[in-house]
Amino acid sequence: MSHVDATDTHAPATHNAPTPTSARTVHTRASSRPVTLLDLEPRTDTFLEEALAGLRKPSGQRTLPCKFFYDRRGSRLFDQICELPEYYPTRTELEIMRLHAPAMGVACSPGAVVVEFGSGSSLKTRLLLERLQRPAACVPVDISREHLVEAAEQLADQFPAIEILPVCADFTQPFPVPASRAPAQRKVVYFPGSTIGNFTPAQARPLLARIAELAGPRGGLLIGIDLKKDPAVLEAAYNDAAGVTAAFNLNLLVRMNHELGAELDTDGFYHRAVYDPQRGRIEMRLISRRPQTARVGGERFEFEEGEIIVTEYSHKYTVAEFAALAREVGFELQQTWTDSRELFAVLYLSQSARAGA
Ligand code: TRP
Repeated sequence: MSHVDATDTHAPATHNAPTPTSARTVHTRASSRPVTLLDLEPRTDTFLEEALAGLRKPSGQRTLPCKFFYDRRGSRLFDQICELPEYYPTRTELEIMRLHAPAMGVACSPGAVVVEFGSGSSLKTRLLLERLQRPAACVPVDISREHLVEAAEQLADQFPAIEILPVCADFTQPFPVPASRAPAQRKVVYFPGSTIGNFTPAQARPLLARIAELAGPRGGLLIGIDLKKDPAVLEAAYNDAAGVTAAFNLNLLVRMNHELGAELDTDGFYHRAVYDPQRGRIEMRLISRRPQTARVGGERFEFEEGEIIVTEYSHKYTVAEFAALAREVGFELQQTWTDSRELFAVLYLSQSARAGA
């Protein structure tokens, strides 16, 4: 039951290939405090096969895989998105963390191993780690080795008293959590950034089930979710006036030309994000400006004028909707922190007695 539909290629960070069984441990630096990396060597070479799978779908249903947004340029553009006046989620989540980290620290304590899904914002993690009581360890998990090691070394410098145990893995697949030296009383998964919204509910459910399994009977989940709101506010956030999100979305086509030898006219498509109120999600689209032919991996793809390629979804929830989804896999909502405008929420959930029996 717990597998992500391999045909749904706009799921973030999912892999069609089986998880490799090899694991290396790497001591990342000699000086300062050494950090030991558990490297499960997740596959990252599936760009061509996933792009082709998405483009081979019938016209009007085509997709491109969002997990390839983040090359060097894409990561830089994403950092810029987070600073945009229209893009409220990042700064709102940070504001919630700043205000409520003390209470979150209590909810997650004592003796927690914090497993961070995606080692994105070390700032948010720092705010949480500062407030934990007798933390056992912090385990950042990320598919990007370079990014992960950098983040882990920073954490090791900032928190000399907390053991930092990075794992390079695809967090949509099962992975082992390294044992901490200090005794662990519970595992808490920290999943910030409303990344869960980039999965469809059908994909989010098995992912949350795996998180529940990983956290164990006494474990918890601290998660950031973007809330439902005025569609105009949502659409503005993903169609910024400066065009940074457009450049970010179109960067997928730029990468395909550079890295896959594709022949795609990057000026032949434009970006548009649309909110679907029925499904409660933003759809990131690339739209063909005119009839055209693209070549990818030796295959020809015809596009009509106005034809849409979906690159990513960003699902929005009410707190009640998310709590109901999480309850299906045995999580009970314990606490909710939100901002004054109720744009974003950080939730703490723990395993219900039923599931943990
Ligand atoms: N998960 C966040 C969101 O959906 C961040 C994000 C992922 C994002 N992909 C994006 C933001 C593309 C803007 C554009 O909002």
